[in-house]
Amino acid sequence: MTDKPAPPPASEQHTPPAGQGQAMWGGRFAATPAQTMQLINASIDVDRRLWREDIAGSRAHAAMLGAQGVLSAQDVAAIHTGLDAIAAEIEAGTFPFSIELEDIHLNIEARLTERIGDAGKRLHTARSRNDQVATDFRLWVKQALGEAEAALAGLGTVLVDVAEAHADWIMPGFTHLQTAQPVTLGHHLMAYAQMTRRDRARLRAAITHLDECPLGAAALAGTPWPIDREATARALGFAGPTRNSMDSVGSRDFAMEALNTLAIATVHLSRLAEEIVMWTSPQFGFARLSDAWSTGSSIMPQKRNPDAAELIRAKAARIASSAQALMMTVKALPLTYAKDLQDDKALTFDAFDAFGLCVAALGGMVSTMSFDRARMRAAATLGYSTATDLADWLVRELGMPFREAHHVTGAIVKLAEGLGIAELCDLPLAQAQQIEPRLTADALAALSVEASVAARTSLGGTAPDQVRAEVQRWRTQQAQVAG
Ligand code: ARG
Repeated sequence: MTDKPAPPPASEQHTPPAGQGQAMWGGRFAATPAQTMQLINASIDVDRRLWREDIAGSRAHAAMLGAQGVLSAQDVAAIHTGLDAIAAEIEAGTFPFSIELEDIHLNIEARLTERIGDAGKRLHTARSRNDQVATDFRLWVKQALGEAEAALAGLGTVLVDVAEAHADWIMPGFTHLQTAQPVTLGHHLMAYAQMTRRDRARLRAAITHLDECPLGAAALAGTPWPIDREATARALGFAGPTRNSMDSVGSRDFAMEALNTLAIATVHLSRLAEEIVMWTSPQFGFARLSDAWSTGSSIMPQKRNPDAAELIRAKAARIASSAQALMMTVKALPLTYAKDLQDDKALTFDAFDAFGLCVAALGGMVSTMSFDRARMRAAATLGYSTATDLADWLVRELGMPFREAHHVTGAIVKLAEGLGIAELCDLPLAQAQQIEPRLTADALAALSVEASVAARTSLGGTAPDQVRAEVQRWRTQQAQVAG
């Protein structure tokens, strides 16, 4: 039997006596909302996280109304005291959150009125929940972006430290996941450090783009009250006020940009997570996660599973989907506010929460994992990974055109393969000379993986000295940013 939707509860048809059980906006309604209406409409379980921002916004708004002569000094003082008490209640876990009051804005406003009476009812002069939520949410996202940036900076430091400690540990570099050329682990990790640097710049840019205060846009058209939007913007730490009331209440590109930026950053984290999954498999055997970052299997006692790395991959999907879901939510909304926009917060909170976990878990894994130097080196020698070095020698020492050198090297690789010799530097000189008589013993000796990485001294190349130089450069730049 398939489940049928439950019939609407009897209470959905309930008509209360006039004036009872009405919503805060219920002046013109004779009946209360249906129960399911309340469930789909309420956002308090999600947006209660905005309580600090909501109180800050109300404080700034009340102070400004006082300074402009719209509210009396006594009312402003009562509002501020009441809001402080509410903050303390929420902090202490004693605030009576109520689903009937829909969202954080109405919950706090109703409680304020309960505590201070009529002054509480005057707070909503010259504002609307539309500019209120836009302001609260911007404040929240701004703070969260700053925290995400700081977390990523921490991960960058971990990557650079671990890179420095392994600046000359040789491992295979891959293209197509086929052994391509030897690189160092330090170089590989510094690649991810560079990604975090750009991701941080994107997060900072997102902060500057959202740094305008929508408070004072009111419902959508502005307000006849003599408000001072510069003052509220300043009080809330914004660079200035937004310039169009309709844009202020109807736009969410600040959240879209934040989530898309997080999505890009998490794609990077996910790639490293995937490499950790591969490196820690017995088949690769390059690395071992510490006990703190491994999980066991309930049936196979030998297992050490990289669950955190796998979950980072999954969360990258989730964060990218949240970014996508938010854009799809907004894409067909006519100006200005529509209730669809209420769902922006669940997506955003979820994405930032997941991101925080990913960054912390990756930092934990990378800073405590150990690497198997011999195993990585051995893997780096597979697949004739230094063949390009031989081609380079032929060009440099014999003046061969590169295409021809490529061809000759191919023949030498084929020869080694036929002889069952795994590394080009182990090829007997006499055999190799049958293909190119001018080859020397030195040329073959230079085909070790150590010689190969040491030779790649070009800017941004994998030579250990180059990697160490980049580590130093990174540290100097960080010191400059901090100082
Ligand atoms: N809870 C609402 C939201 O998050 C607040 C704004 C409600 N505005 C309105 N016109 N109903 O979007």
